[in-house]
This record gives sequence, C-alpha cells and structure tokens, in this order.
Amino acid sequence: MKAVFQDTYGPPSVLRVEETPRPVPGPGEVLVRVHAAGVDQGVWHVMAGMPYLLRALGFGLRAPRNRVRGTDLAGRVEAVGPGVTRFAPGDAVYGSGVGTYAEYARAKEAHLAPKPDRLGFEEAAAVPVSACTALQALRDSGQLRAGQHVLVIGASGGVGTYAVQLAKALGAAHVTGVCGTAKAGFVRSLGADEVVDHTHEDPADGTRRYDLVLDIAGNRPLSRLRRVLTPRGTLVIVGGEHGGRWTGGIGRQLRGLLLSGFVRHRIRTLVGTQPAADLARLGALLDAGAVIPAVDRVYAALADAPEAVRRLRGGDVRGKLVIRV
Ligand SMILES: NC(=O)c1ccc[n+]([C@@H]2O[C@H](COP(=O)([O-])OP(=O)(O)OC[C@H]3O[C@@H](n4cnc5c(N)ncnc54)[C@H](OP(=O)(O)O)[C@@H]3O)[C@@H](O)[C@H]2O)c1
Repeated sequence: MKAVFQDTYGPPSVLRVEETPRPVPGPGEVLVRVHAAGVDQGVWHVMAGMPYLLRALGFGLRAPRNRVRGTDLAGRVEAVGPGVTRFAPGDAVYGSGVGTYAEYARAKEAHLAPKPDRLGFEEAAAVPVSACTALQALRDSGQLRAGQHVLVIGASGGVGTYAVQLAKALGAAHVTGVCGTAKAGFVRSLGADEVVDHTHEDPADGTRRYDLVLDIAGNRPLSRLRRVLTPRGTLVIVGGEHGGRWTGGIGRQLRGLLLSGFVRHRIRTLVGTQPAADLARLGALLDAGAVIPAVDRVYAALADAPEAVRRLRGGDVRGKLVIRV
C-alpha cells in the first residue's frame, strides 16, 4: 500500500509517499481501508517533533516512533483482529487510527464508530480529533450548563468551529467567537451570537464576562483570561501555537492547574481522545444537522499531505483540511 512516511523530524518536506506492507490488525483492532483523513495541528507537532518535550514523552527522540503520519480517518472496515465484535468487513466507520495518511490503517475498535449517514467520507474525516476535543472541553473540562455564556477563542479553526456549534447544541444561551477579520462572517455562519475580531479588539479586556472560556488559540496570559470570567467561571485551556520550542503551551496549562487550587475560578485543561461513545454522540448531532463539519478544502491525494500541513500552519484555513486517499 501507499503511505505518507517520514524518517526524521522536520518541515513538511520530510513527508513523502512510499510503498509499505499493509498493517495487520492486532487484538481489539480493525484494519480500515482509508477513504479520507483529516489534518490537524497534532500532525504538525509530531512531524516537526515540536515542542521538544513531546519527543521526551515517548513520540521518539530523533524521529517519530511511528513513521506514518495522520490520526483522523473515515473509511471502510477491511478486516478485524481477534476479539473485535462491533464491526465487520465493509462497515463504513470514522474515528482515529495509527498512521492514517495511508491506503490502510490500524485503529482500535474502541476509537471507531459507524460513520454518520448524513456525511460523506471526506466530511466525516474532518470530525474525530477536533470535534471530540471540542466536546470534551465543553462537556467534561468545562462542565457547560444550559443557559451559560461561552467565549470561544480560536473559533475559526479546527477545534473552534466545532466548539461554537457544540456549545449551542449543548444549550449555551450565548456564544461569542474570537477570530481574525477575514473569518468573522464565517464564524457567525457557524451560529456564534457575537464575534470579536482579535485584530481590532481585545477579547480579554474585561468589558464582558463569561461563565465558560475555551482558550484554543493566542496564548493569552492566564491573568488576562481570568478577567473575563464570571466570579465562579471556568477557563479551559485547550491549546495555542507558538508557545516556545521546549514546552509549547504546556507550561501555561500547568500553571493554570496549579493556580486553580488557590482561586475561585475553575481552570482546567485536557488531552483530547476519540472514544467510541463520543464519536457516536457526535454522530447523532451530525446526522441531526445540529453540527456540520466546516471543510475548507479537500486535497486530492496522499502526495498533497506536505502542502496540506503547510497550509494549516499558514493560518488562513477556515475549519478543517482533509486529504482524500
Ligand atoms: N488539548 C488537546 O487535546 C488538543 C486537541 C486538539 C488541538 N489542540 C490544540 O489546540 C490548538 C488549536 O487547534 P486547531 O486544530 O483548532 O488549530 P487551527 O485549526 O489552526 O485553528 C486555530 C485558529 O486560531 C486562530 N487564531 C490565531 N491567532 C489567534 C489569536 N491571537 N487569537 C484568537 N484566535 C487566533 C486562527 O484563526 P484567525 O485567523 O481567525 O485568527 C485559527 O483559525 C492547537 O494548539 C492544537 O495543538 C489541543
């Protein structure tokens, strides 16, 4: 099969398409014939080996331990490993797998769900990592309750486009999205009640208060973010690029968790996962049309992976990029 490989950490040019044997599904695993795979910032982090802390955390010191990139997938089950009970060859599935920029990829049964009927494979591939992160940030870390006011910083990106829609679907009374000038109309079209253009206005100037703030982009200091919380409001630090070569945004997340023990605000962070139950929950919302994947562009082939990652890092993507396999 063909797959997108890398032998060393580096820029998108380290990615190349090569022939390799098909993976064999182990116990509890499914082999998926990949039809489409999503692109997210995590792909860049593992490709680049940045921040360096990630290498020490088990991704591989000199090169990624797993040489094939890609996590999101949508496709059809080709074969199942021992002990798999929920899927059979031919089933249309979506979720996360290992090395999904490939014609076939292994995925844990526990990280797959039936593909939502309403979505094609390409739209479905834009969902797993970003939408599960948004759902877990709002529901679990954020403990969103109906009627609350929510601020989503980074509303135009992969996680943010789902966060805006999911916040409304989960009952938020008012959702404010923060994005750049060119994407304001786009974020409004996702259902945001209000948009703050961070190039003209400081979303953390303290003039408005929110029960829940999802901080997905911009790396604003904790003190500024806390200024816009209601007295018992919750701040969820999801991520933020350009946080430094060694630890990235992780230092800010750790400081937030420490501080949380001493202040009335709840400060939380998360490591998003793609459990079958969340994929199924999202599937129901997607099938009902309550959430719609915002796909900026579908790239035509695996060979386009370097260009897709380059474009994502360029910062002008609205929602998600997808690679057709
Ligand atoms: N904790 C987890 O488990 C988890 C999971 C997934 C992702 N993440 C992290 O979350 C972050 C976002 O991921 P993503 O996939 O959504 O990235 P993305 O698709 O690149 O979106 C980021 C968005 O942030 C906006 N932005 C840039 N600078 C900003 C600023 N100063 N203020 C407000 N918004 C700004 C950009 O849009 P504009 O042009 O409109 O500003 C962009 O659309 C990344 O750091 C990623 O690593 C964490």
